[in-house]
Amino acid sequence: MNENQTPQEPQETPAEQETPEPGHTQIGRLFNYANNPITIAGAVLATLAALLISIFLTIHMVGGHQSAYTGILAFAIMPAFFVTGLLIIPVGMWFRRRRLLTAHLTEAELDAYPRLDFNDPHLRKVVLAFIGLTCLNAVIFGSASFIGVEYMESIDFCGTVCHTVMSPEYAAYQNSPHSRVRCVQCHIGPGASWFVKSKIDGLRQVIATTLNSFSRPIGSPIHNLRPARATCEQCHWPSKHHGDKLRVIVRHDTDEENTPSYTALLLKTGGGNLDQGRHGGIHWWHIYSDNRIRYIPSDERRFGIKWVELTTPDGEVRTYTRESDEEVSEEEVAAEARIMDCIDCHNRPTHLFQFPDKSLDEVIERRTDLRSLPYFKREAMKALTAEYATNAEGTKAVSDAILRFYRTEYPEVMEKQEGLVTDAAEVSSAIFARTVFPEMNTNWDTHPSHIGHQEFPGCWRCHDDELQTADGENYIPQDCDNCHTFLFEDLAELPDFESLKF
Ligand code: HEC
Ligand code: HEC
Ligand code: HEC
Ligand code: HEC
Ligand code: HEC
Repeated sequence: MNENQTPQEPQETPAEQETPEPGHTQIGRLFNYANNPITIAGAVLATLAALLISIFLTIHMVGGHQSAYTGILAFAIMPAFFVTGLLIIPVGMWFRRRRLLTAHLTEAELDAYPRLDFNDPHLRKVVLAFIGLTCLNAVIFGSASFIGVEYMESIDFCGTVCHTVMSPEYAAYQNSPHSRVRCVQCHIGPGASWFVKSKIDGLRQVIATTLNSFSRPIGSPIHNLRPARATCEQCHWPSKHHGDKLRVIVRHDTDEENTPSYTALLLKTGGGNLDQGRHGGIHWWHIYSDNRIRYIPSDERRFGIKWVELTTPDGEVRTYTRESDEEVSEEEVAAEARIMDCIDCHNRPTHLFQFPDKSLDEVIERRTDLRSLPYFKREAMKALTAEYATNAEGTKAVSDAILRFYRTEYPEVMEKQEGLVTDAAEVSSAIFARTVFPEMNTNWDTHPSHIGHQEFPGCWRCHDDELQTADGENYIPQDCDNCHTFLFEDLAELPDFESLKF
């Protein structure tokens, strides 16, 4: 750029709005200094960022697109651009000043305002081009950031970008009741502050993935997950859900006939609240009753619980401890007590790595024709619980093992029902594919589920009759009937529910 002609160019500086004093002035000089590509670029950057911040802010305030990623864009990334833009402005001015001074301009020349003559077609073109390009920039920049945001919120991004790392969680997720719920709806939730927290965490994760230093398996529980009630209750309405839940459980034996047996439990999940009536039950006790339960786990994984505190709505506080446990100090309570929420029971709402026998029971229940394959459950269990080096290798090996078994041991079955045997091989290998990830050291045993008490201690971490108040008056009960009623147990055939009498 030719410095002597610079007053002809359009300007953009922070000093633009100020009214210049008549006569000799420093402001004209500022204009001259500002007239350089670096300063102009800084000003454009700051203006664009300011524009976007205000757009996002408005959307956020009127309650529009409340996403975590627009949050970080509006409140973390854009402000960074804004400040960078502002910082660049004086840097450009400083360089320009040095050049003007070495060019030995007179004081008057240095102070002269740029002369903008809009009759000059050249100037008009430049100004028009400038306005046009700025608008275009805003559109491109804006839509690019929105598309970026949408992408980062997608299940695809969360589930697949880091491949191996997320593959167990992604696979389990796809097979869960929440497979249409986006990862960020549970893991981040709306609003900016959790977003920023999760992104700082995310950054650490990206570094760990790049350096290949992430832990295998990814540890659970997640200690800095947002309190579940803020995320789950976006969809599950607190005071409403849920009436008692009927669970019919089918188990299959590992005998030749894969013999089924049926059990039905009425789980007293309960629901409602004090105003609506119909309360009591599992949800009411721990969540909706305004009871507040806090606890301290005795290990990192929360397998054991050594201290529980119940605050009732009328303010009574009960503390339960076990005689066999060491005493819990007040500092420990202040530092470690956790308020019980949904994921202290539902810690596997979507990443459930089921034990292979349960997965097989469910599959056989759905595909009753598989029962006609002799020893199917036994053989599938054998194949599923063997050791393999990778998920892909195991997936193929499980299928091969089933096919091999029927080909060699039951050639007549293979001959007559090849289609069924192929299906059996496929469903078994699908179970393996979503459950066992040797690359991440995960299988059904890695992440305990806290619902129930069969494979893992679950409810019985507290409900063991031993956690008691100091006076021994209250304890956390293990009576079977508090939590569920057995409608029938181990029946050979599923009864007709309509004919059941209670
Ligand atoms: C319905 C809510 C929900 C959805 C949807 C969800 N998660 Fe999770 N996720 C959880 C909960 C709850 C935990 C367990 C927290 C704990 O045990 O502390 C978890 C744990 C994890 C973990 C830690 C390892 C583990 O297995 O405990 C990873 C990694 C993870 N989720 C990734 C994902 C990805 C990727 C997606 C989307 C493909 C996703 N999540 C979708 C609720 C959800
Ligand atoms: C974006 C909405 C949404 C969020 C957030 C959400 N859920 Fe769900 N959840 C659903 C829907 C929809 C279903 C029913 C799915 C079906 O039956 O197909 C469901 C089903 C369930 C079930 C019943 C599963 C079953 O096997 O019958 C449980 C338990 C559950 N959710 C717990 C949770 C927990 C715990 C959280 C928080 C960590 C959570 N949900 C977050 C939408 C959501
Ligand atoms: C004390 C443990 C516990 C807590 C805390 C808890 N639940 Fe449950 N919930 C259960 C049990 C047990 C069941 C029934 C067993 C099952 O569905 O696996 C259940 C069932 C459900 C179901 C399925 C109901 C149906 O009829 O299919 C949903 C949805 C659900 N819970 C949501 C939540 C949400 C949301 C929270 C947190 C606000 C929560 N639960 C807190 C124990 C708990
Ligand atoms: C962190 C500890 C803790 C865990 C884990 C826990 N509970 Fe509880 N639960 C309590 C406390 C405390 C009480 C109140 C005990 C009392 O009556 O003094 C309670 C009460 C109950 C009650 C009412 C009992 C009564 O006296 O009628 C039911 C039902 C119940 N829990 C079911 C469950 C189920 C089901 C699970 C697992 C899914 C579970 N709880 C997990 C702490 C826990
Ligand atoms: C604190 C609550 C609680 C208590 C006390 C309790 N259970 Fe359970 N139990 C559960 C829950 C919750 C489930 C459902 C687990 C699930 O949804 O997978 C369950 C499931 C079961 C099942 C079926 C498991 C399966 O999948 O095959 C059996 C059997 C069972 N309980 C037996 C008992 C017996 C016997 C007692 C008394 C000694 C007892 N339970 C006490 C909460 C409890």
